[in-house]
Amino acid sequence: MAHRIGVIGGDGIGPEVVAEGLKVVASAGVELETIDYDLGGGRYLRDGTVLPDEVVEEWRGLDALFLGAVGTPDVPPGLIERGLLLKMRFALDLYINLRPFVLAERDIDFCVVRENTEGAYAGEGGFLRKGTPHEIATQGSVNTRMGVERCVRFAFDLARTRRNHLTLVHKTNVLTFSGDLWERTFDEVAAEYPDVGTAYNHVDAACIYFVQDPQRYDVIVTDNLFGDILTDLGGAVSGGIGFASSANLNPARTGASMFEPVHGSAPDITGMGIANPTAAILSAAMMLDFLGEEDAARRITAACADPATQVEGTVAIGDAIAALVQGPSTAAGVR
Ligand code: IPM
Ligand code: MN
Repeated sequence: MAHRIGVIGGDGIGPEVVAEGLKVVASAGVELETIDYDLGGGRYLRDGTVLPDEVVEEWRGLDALFLGAVGTPDVPPGLIERGLLLKMRFALDLYINLRPFVLAERDIDFCVVRENTEGAYAGEGGFLRKGTPHEIATQGSVNTRMGVERCVRFAFDLARTRRNHLTLVHKTNVLTFSGDLWERTFDEVAAEYPDVGTAYNHVDAACIYFVQDPQRYDVIVTDNLFGDILTDLGGAVSGGIGFASSANLNPARTGASMFEPVHGSAPDITGMGIANPTAAILSAAMMLDFLGEEDAARRITAACADPATQVEGTVAIGDAIAALVQGPSTAAGVR
């Protein structure tokens, strides 16, 4: 039976890269029933719609969501981010943001498990005396034992399917409250996984290791904001942000999980046909893996790493990957 997927192309290069993702999924022989949602900065500018609650309810019944990128320069910062992306993460309880980084040439192969529903993203804070010389702004970070523990457990389980090593990244020397909660939770859960080796890095040190010795990492678990920043760096050191894929997961499957490239809408290159669709295609592969189409996911991921796909142009890259996934027999129509 076809998987029912909500597709949000979004703004800028979003629709361009999503089209290539869907093309490659089709080339793997996986049937999708897609439902398009016109959402993002463009839609907001047209009629003020960001993300209606009815749409979120509809999404609950879908198998997954595939998103390109959202955001346009003429929409105030934060409006689409908070109103669409974060609302989606919170409403569907997408508590894991999984971001893999692979670059065979440098022997890089690690995953960041980013907590995706708490921390600085919870939106705690506010202004006092806004706009006056005595203005105060506070921005809190919310860390619950439940939220941290389910994220840490996911990371330990993931490490077991890989090279059995998990690193906690935080800033326990300064964030003595949230860091303490994270560290205690990590240590307690670690006792249940004696087969998984563990390490701890402060986030500033992790930045150095990301650049100088990323080979040391297998799985990393970290909080929402550290994970946001570290995964851009992860993309930069492992082939560029054009290759960085991500999955916003609800592992309990009480809401549709969402798959999207890490990059943004890149308005500066929109419509030029030069955006690299690989990150979106790899995100589509993560979606297939989550939907139980492991073989198709593996074939697509392998094709994305093939030097034959290092060509110029959004459509050309998509075509090259699709051709590899499909294999020579069916592509040529003969064996
Ligand atoms: C990401 C993005 C988002 C985030 C923004 C657009 C809200 O940077 O997915 O990494 O900060 O999580
Ligand atoms: Mn980010």
